[in-house]
Amino acid sequence: MRVLVVGGAGYIGSIAVKKLIENGNNVVVLDALYTGHQKAVDPQAKFYQGDIENKFLVSQILRNEKIDAVMHFAAYSLVPESVKKPLKYYDNNVAGMISLLEAMNDVGVKYLVFSSSAATYGIPKKLPITEDSPLDPINPYGDTKVMMEKIMHWADKADGIKSIALRYFNVAGAASDGSIGEDHAPETHLIPNILKSALSGDGKFTIFGNDYDTKDGTNVRDYVQIEDLIDAHLLALDYLMKTKKSDVFNLGTAHGYSNLEILAAARKVTGIDIPYTMGPRRGGDPDSLVADSTKARTILHWQPKHESAEEVMTSAWKWHQSHPNGYEDK
Ligand code: UFG
Repeated sequence: MRVLVVGGAGYIGSIAVKKLIENGNNVVVLDALYTGHQKAVDPQAKFYQGDIENKFLVSQILRNEKIDAVMHFAAYSLVPESVKKPLKYYDNNVAGMISLLEAMNDVGVKYLVFSSSAATYGIPKKLPITEDSPLDPINPYGDTKVMMEKIMHWADKADGIKSIALRYFNVAGAASDGSIGEDHAPETHLIPNILKSALSGDGKFTIFGNDYDTKDGTNVRDYVQIEDLIDAHLLALDYLMKTKKSDVFNLGTAHGYSNLEILAAARKVTGIDIPYTMGPRRGGDPDSLVADSTKARTILHWQPKHESAEEVMTSAWKWHQSHPNGYEDK
């Protein structure tokens, strides 16, 4: 199959590119390199630098490269940044989705696998969260993902573009060979921040709040290892092409770890007694997010291989140890 990966130079997209190629697909990447790294893109993929909102360019790539299906990872994804800069998020994420679907429609490409998010649920009424839980985001980032899913829904009704939205919980870890991993500037995510602090010994790691309604007062999240997450994308793409049916699936392990438990796992895996400061809450964080991923396991036959925080941490640690300055080190 010929697959266009939009956002294929990012943390998640670049691992999708690698796995799609390993599975015998021809892969074309479009990435603006705003946050991605060209060094993360498998050299066997054909690379175009450009913006998803450049409809002319996207249409040209879809047509000239004879694309069968698209995977869309090209969205801004930082919850705290979205609270501070909502317009940036609505512009890139929502307008980007419209532009992509218009280009797909113009050229007649009918299949899309999309990175959605657990941030669509907001503060869940019950845990674990099933796909039919109400969508009620509490930050602009999550709201853009709800809007993008709605746009996909209506593009299916009107234009027959079939899509699968994968609602990620907290994606973490790295390629198991340590070659591809998380490199954001600035880094805001929990696991990279803990491991960077472990490496530098700067003692600057802060936990944002211990007054949440959780087992130890710190936020609880469901960490899904990145290679497991991408396995689900490949299964979703196969399912989409076979059934020609739009759908939505949660991707999480169904295990919830508090921020303090994640720190404990990091201390165990690294063997370093990483110090921390307990700070105030950060804006836009729900108390707990834990997936019910029964639907993906049953329908897509997805089976995450890394179920514990320590397993996720091990691959992340391999990446950070070998790339203390991210892709600059390569
Ligand atoms: N945290 C800290 N210290 C840090 C960084 C994070 O305490 O230095 C805390 C956060 O406050 C939160 C938890 O660690 O409680 C996880 O935060 P992340 O920034 O790693 O991840 P988020 O839960 O904010 O968001 C991630 C993705 C989103 C996605 C969401 C869904 O970045 O795209 O998971 O659960 F929507």
